[in-house]
Amino acid sequence: MKSLVITRPDDWHLHLRDGPALAAVLPHTVRAFARAIVMPNLKPAVTSVAAADAYRQRIVAAFDAGKRGGAIAAGARFEPLMTLYLTDRTSPRDIALARASGFVHAVKYYPAGATTNSDAGVTALERAFPALEAMQKHDLPLLVHGEVTDPAIDIFDRERMFVDGQLQTIVSRFPGLRVVAEHITTREAATFVEQARPGVAATITVHHLLYNRGAIFQGGIRPHFYCLPVLKREEHRRALVAAATSGQPKFFLGTDSAPHPRGLKEHPCGCAGVFSAPAALELYAEVFDAAGALDKLESFASHHGADFYRLPRNAEKVTLLKEAWTIPAEYPFGDETVVPLRCGEQAAWRMA
Ligand code: DOR
Ligand code: ZN
Repeated sequence: MKSLVITRPDDWHLHLRDGPALAAVLPHTVRAFARAIVMPNLKPAVTSVAAADAYRQRIVAAFDAGKRGGAIAAGARFEPLMTLYLTDRTSPRDIALARASGFVHAVKYYPAGATTNSDAGVTALERAFPALEAMQKHDLPLLVHGEVTDPAIDIFDRERMFVDGQLQTIVSRFPGLRVVAEHITTREAATFVEQARPGVAATITVHHLLYNRGAIFQGGIRPHFYCLPVLKREEHRRALVAAATSGQPKFFLGTDSAPHPRGLKEHPCGCAGVFSAPAALELYAEVFDAAGALDKLESFASHHGADFYRLPRNAEKVTLLKEAWTIPAEYPFGDETVVPLRCGEQAAWRMA
């Protein structure tokens, strides 16, 4: 197959940042995706509906400015789907307000200390039970960063331990709560989601579909492949590809594109995050093509997520062509630059 027309996709897990960084990265997402679930791990974190509303307005303003300045196509449309950042103090009232807002579509659970800007996260799962109860009642989905934070647990085992423990607890204790295991990276997480009750789903990033942990050490230390949860063994990558290309509605696209300035990635203590937005859809096409499953790309990228979130599927189409192009070495990012996934190398597919 040399070209493929699919319904315009959505990105169900995205870090858009704020200020000049937001202005710099937003055009990369909106060229391909119609909507995105926007992560709330700003500093300070987006913990209230008022903060989510203000952030949404900054995103819309950046979108409009991008159109005026030519960085975003005049005809483009984009809807940011906002999330709240769950803390020990998130109340049932916060959840009711979020549901009533119409623009908050989910609540993100970061175990405190699990990843970038997670310090304000939940310090013990039990502390979040009243909020989870309210989310179940108001039918507001919980998005989970599924890693335990105990430093004694090996970093490559942290997701598996979380799945066996906290994720299992959440799913069984709140049987009506919709839950998304975000950016799953292991066979165990994929199997858990596959076998779980209805209402449990997972996003899968393109970097976890393309690369195993060897990429971080290929010929030297490669900080741009460092993210959390960290890349895993090849057997896990294969299990993720099998899940993503299976056609099961529980699995859908979420890039977790997470830009950091080049200087903070190439650093003695570099930040976690892979910036995949500039070629995300194209690289997903490459994964599905390599698996002989291009016919499953549209449902994974454009149907399953919308169905899970009970939003209409997009009406527009996009066209992908099997034509190689070189992904730039870096892009502007405020006063700095940001290095994309697969920098300076070829992508096999491009968007028409
Ligand atoms: O690699 C990551 N980067 N994982 C996360 O969970 C957060 C993200 C970020 O915000 O940079
Ligand atoms: Zn993320």
